[in-house]
Amino acid sequence: MMIENVVGRFALPLGIGANFQINGQDYLVPMAIEEPSVVAAVSSGALLARSGGGFSTSSTDPVMIAQVQLLDVPDAAKAESAILAAKDQILGAADTSPTLTRLGGGPKEIEVRQLTGTPAGPMLIVHLLIDCQDAMGANAANTAAEAAAPLLERLSGGRAGLRILSNLSDRRRAWAEVEIPADAFRSNAFSGSEVIHGIAEANAFAYADPYRAATHNKGIFNGVDAVLLATGNDWRAVEAGAHAWAARDGQYRALTDWHVRGRADSESLYGRLELPIAVGTVGGATRSHPSARLALRILGLDLQGEAPIESEKGRSQANGDAGECQQGARALSEIVAAVGLAQNLAALRALVTTGIQHGHMRLHARQMAASAGAVGDAVEHIAGQMVAEGNIRVERAKELLQEKNGRLAGP
Ligand code: MEV
Repeated sequence: MMIENVVGRFALPLGIGANFQINGQDYLVPMAIEEPSVVAAVSSGALLARSGGGFSTSSTDPVMIAQVQLLDVPDAAKAESAILAAKDQILGAADTSPTLTRLGGGPKEIEVRQLTGTPAGPMLIVHLLIDCQDAMGANAANTAAEAAAPLLERLSGGRAGLRILSNLSDRRRAWAEVEIPADAFRSNAFSGSEVIHGIAEANAFAYADPYRAATHNKGIFNGVDAVLLATGNDWRAVEAGAHAWAARDGQYRALTDWHVRGRADSESLYGRLELPIAVGTVGGATRSHPSARLALRILGLDLQGEAPIESEKGRSQANGDAGECQQGARALSEIVAAVGLAQNLAALRALVTTGIQHGHMRLHARQMAASAGAVGDAVEHIAGQMVAEGNIRVERAKELLQEKNGRLAGP
C-alpha cells in the first residue's frame, strides 16, 4: 500500500518521448502526463537536437542537504566554531545508514549558516551534506538530521527546532546542452536564422521577466514532471528545488540559456538547462510501483535482478564502451535535464513561428472528431477540414461525419 485511505486508482496516459540521443546513446523516454501535445512536442525537440549530435549531459555527485535549525543559541560565533571543530563527530552521529556508507555514500560535509533578522530571532542553521547514491535521499537526509540534532544542541548550547531535508538540492544538479545548426530550423515559412534568433529573444524575455519565466519554466516541467511521474519519483520535490534555484539571484528567471553562435553563414543555436534534480532509481515508488519499474527498465536503469530487454542490452554495451555515461540516479537526472531542454526547445520553436495554438488546434480538432463518432482515417480527415475552416466544434464534426458517411453510402 503506497498511501492511506485509498478508495481507488487514478490512471494517467503513459507515452514515449522519441528521438532522444544523449551522450551518443539513443533513448526512448517514458512520460506520464495528461496534457495533449507534450509528448509529440518533446519528440520533435529531441529530433531537432539530433541534427546537432544530440544532447550532452553531466551532473554533480548526488548530494542532498539536511538542515538542523538551532534556536536560543547564546553565542552564535562560538557555537559555529564549536560545530565546525566537531565536524567528524557530527558526521559520525549523522551516519545512520550502513548500506549507504558501504556504497560510498553517507554524510560527507557540514556547513553552518547564521540567520538574523527573523521574526523568531537569530538562529543557527546546520547543513549536513549527504551523498545519497542512487536513492532520492529524503529518508536518509531526515534520519541524519534527527540523529545529529542532540549533539548539535550540546555543541551550540541551543535548542533544535526543525530537522529535515532541504528541497533546494543545489548540490545535486544535472545539466544538458545542445548545439543545433540553424538550417535544421528552416521551413517553407521561416529561415533557420529567423527561428534561432527568435528563440534567443524568447529566452532573453524569460530571463528578464518573471511573468514570462513562470510560463517558460512551466513548459520545461511539462517534460521533467512527466518523466519523474513515470519513474515513480517525487516531482513536487524537484519542482520546489528548481523554482527556488531559478530565483537564486533574487529574481525568478528562465532555467535555460539559448543563444545564437557563429557567423551569418554558419549560425547555430546553443541551449543549456541546469537545475537541481533529486531523483532515485532505488527506494520508494521507483521499485514498488510496477509501471515505474517498467519505465526504469525502458530507460535501461533497472538492470538489477532482471534480464535486460532488447534496448537495454544495446545501452549496457554502449555504456561499457563509452565509459562516461552515468548509471542509476545520476543517469536519470541527466535524462530528465535533456527532456526539459527538448521540451522547452519545442515550445519556443512553436511560439516564435506558427504560435502554440496551431498544433493544439489540430489535436483539439481530432478530439472533437472522435467525440462526434469518427474512427480511423475519418478522424484525420474531419479534423483537417475543421482546422482549414477555422471552425472546430463537435456539431461541425458531426455534420462532416454525416456528409462523409452519406457519400460512402452512395445515392
Ligand atoms: C504549455 O503547457 C507550455 C507553454 O506555455 C510553455 C511556454 O510558453 O514556453 C507552451
